[in-house]
Amino acid sequence: MTVLRDHIGIFTRLREESRLTAEDVLRGPAPGTGPVRPVGPRGAGPDLAQVRPVAAPPADRPLEEILANRVSIRDYADRAVPVEVIAASLAAAFRTDREGWPDDCAAGHELGVLVAARTVAGLEQAVYRADEDGARLVPLAGLADGRAAEEMVLQIEYAASPVILAVTGSLSTALSRHGAHGHRSLMARASGLAYTALIHASAYGLVGSVFAGFLQSGLRPLVDLDGYRQRQLFAVSLGYPRP
Ligand SMILES: Cc1cc2nc3c(=O)[nH]c(=O)nc-3n(C[C@H](O)[C@H](O)[C@H](O)COP(=O)(O)O)c2cc1C
Repeated sequence: MTVLRDHIGIFTRLREESRLTAEDVLRGPAPGTGPVRPVGPRGAGPDLAQVRPVAAPPADRPLEEILANRVSIRDYADRAVPVEVIAASLAAAFRTDREGWPDDCAAGHELGVLVAARTVAGLEQAVYRADEDGARLVPLAGLADGRAAEEMVLQIEYAASPVILAVTGSLSTALSRHGAHGHRSLMARASGLAYTALIHASAYGLVGSVFAGFLQSGLRPLVDLDGYRQRQLFAVSLGYPRP
């Protein structure tokens, strides 16, 4: 008990316990607790239909050129982002996650994405869940404007983002499969998914920034995240650059 009251002691133990030993690696992950349940609406949900976007055709901007020139941007043009570009970026991001983490995906340990669409051509302003790797967008909640939108984020410049892709995942499943190390690998997965979406969107002329995402207190009234079985892990804000 004395150790748990001391935050340095907690971090020291966490650092030790979250390292994989040789035996951990040989044993491999535990089966886990079954498929992760997708994030649902908190209440009745908005009166909007599901959207089935067609992914934009591949863009041919070379990856080397994107990586050499990209910078984080948090201020955007007043121009709607096509839902087809969001769909293409999500498809690439989910595909990369499956390729990188095949065992977790096969065990039903899937990541999710919430699409907070503010200025998206082809979507009403709302929060959607990206199903089928982004080929089906399920409306879960309305998305506020003005002061209420600013209260959903720590840095208010993100409140005006044309679109935010918030990566969600199950901390409880990560811990039951991988022990304390599961938190690290879950964050690495979420970062990879968000970053792939950003780089892919850049090929279509979008800019943006990865960031911590919505405040838990901002998301919880909208969707059924409890912070443990399902929580937001990381996010990316996207839009067109100001001319
Ligand atoms: C793991 C990670 C977390 C980040 N979190 C935030 C954040 O919460 N807020 C923010 O404004 N930027 C965030 N960023 C973006 C960084 O501020 C930005 O990438 C950094 O300043 C480097 O600038 P560049 O991306 O233009 O090279 C994050 C970046 C990374 C890699």
